[in-house]
Amino acid sequence: MTYLPLENRYQQMTYKRCGNSGVKLPAISLGLWHNFGGVDLLENCREMLWKAFDSGITHFDLANNYGPPPGSAEETFGQILKKDFQGYRDEMFISTKAGYTMWPGPYGDWGSRKYLISSLDQSLKRMNLEYVDLFYSHRPDPETPIEETMMALDQVVRQGKALYVGISNYKPEQAEQAIKILKELGTPCLIHQAKYSMFERWVEGGLLDLLGNTGVGLIAFSPLAQGMLTNRYLHGIPQGSRASKAAFLKPEMITDERLNKIRQLNDLAISRGQTLAEMAIAWLLKDKRVTSVLIGASSAAQLDDNLKALNNLDFSGEELKTIERILA
Ligand SMILES: NC(=O)c1ccc[n+]([C@@H]2O[C@H](COP(=O)([O-])OP(=O)(O)OC[C@H]3O[C@@H](n4cnc5c(N)ncnc54)[C@H](OP(=O)(O)O)[C@@H]3O)[C@@H](O)[C@H]2O)c1
Repeated sequence: MTYLPLENRYQQMTYKRCGNSGVKLPAISLGLWHNFGGVDLLENCREMLWKAFDSGITHFDLANNYGPPPGSAEETFGQILKKDFQGYRDEMFISTKAGYTMWPGPYGDWGSRKYLISSLDQSLKRMNLEYVDLFYSHRPDPETPIEETMMALDQVVRQGKALYVGISNYKPEQAEQAIKILKELGTPCLIHQAKYSMFERWVEGGLLDLLGNTGVGLIAFSPLAQGMLTNRYLHGIPQGSRASKAAFLKPEMITDERLNKIRQLNDLAISRGQTLAEMAIAWLLKDKRVTSVLIGASSAAQLDDNLKALNNLDFSGEELKTIERILA
């Protein structure tokens, strides 16, 4: 089937300025960590990307190691770009990262200039792109001087291989240093990608304040706690779900205590006329410093559900209190 994007796609999405930069990102972005690997059905990947683009999602987030196998999500994405999105590259904001283990030996991991630059070269080849819009240091490296990692980010921008740079998983003190060094180098830090959801609120302990004060955006990853903040696990662990197959969400993480909270949150979402997934996304977007919520999905139907979050982003004081009481 030939894909033709919907003409009214930009009317369905809200776009938010990323920190003090010139870039606007969609309030909801799509990540390709799971469900876009070599093991996954290409037709389903295509459907999800079509649905996303038709809904005004312009930002697609990748990393060198996404798959499985590592590298294959970038290959899948590159294949679909070539097949379905010729002529639309300038309407997309594509990111990739390096920082976790990618190849054996001392140069395929962490934050050296050697690793970051060769990894980005490989990512560009896999996606068949001349440049990415955003390149991240995927995690801080305790052994490499932070100056070296930041200089590598600065270098890829000067080489024209990335337009912007960002950091991910940096604690507030590390982020502060990185932001300062990048500013001095003349390549400002665009964005911080951090895990943030109702179940994971570490960014509220200083990072959000830092980013707000320094004009750096925040994109919240795993906003649905990998599916726990949806109705996916209300009645056990369905076959094919992430908890049934992936190492990152283990069945034992879905404890009775957690399920109890999920059920109460689900009831509150229903009373707001939303699904739990929609409410979990809306709850993150209530903070103006959150530029975008970076969701994952295993089907176009899930994407459809999650996008409806934008229809009700307001919370009453009473609802917010109830959420705090449930999460306590
Ligand atoms: N920087 C980093 O270190 C880092 C780390 C992790 C992720 N990320 C980025 O963040 C992105 C999102 O992470 P994530 O996939 O963990 O996000 P998430 O949105 O918290 O979880 C996505 C999963 O939740 C389930 N789901 C989504 N919508 C649903 C719905 N409406 N109803 C029921 N279930 C639903 C699906 O699981 P099923 O598969 O069970 O259907 C889906 O795969 C990644 O793709 C990646 O780009 C970055």
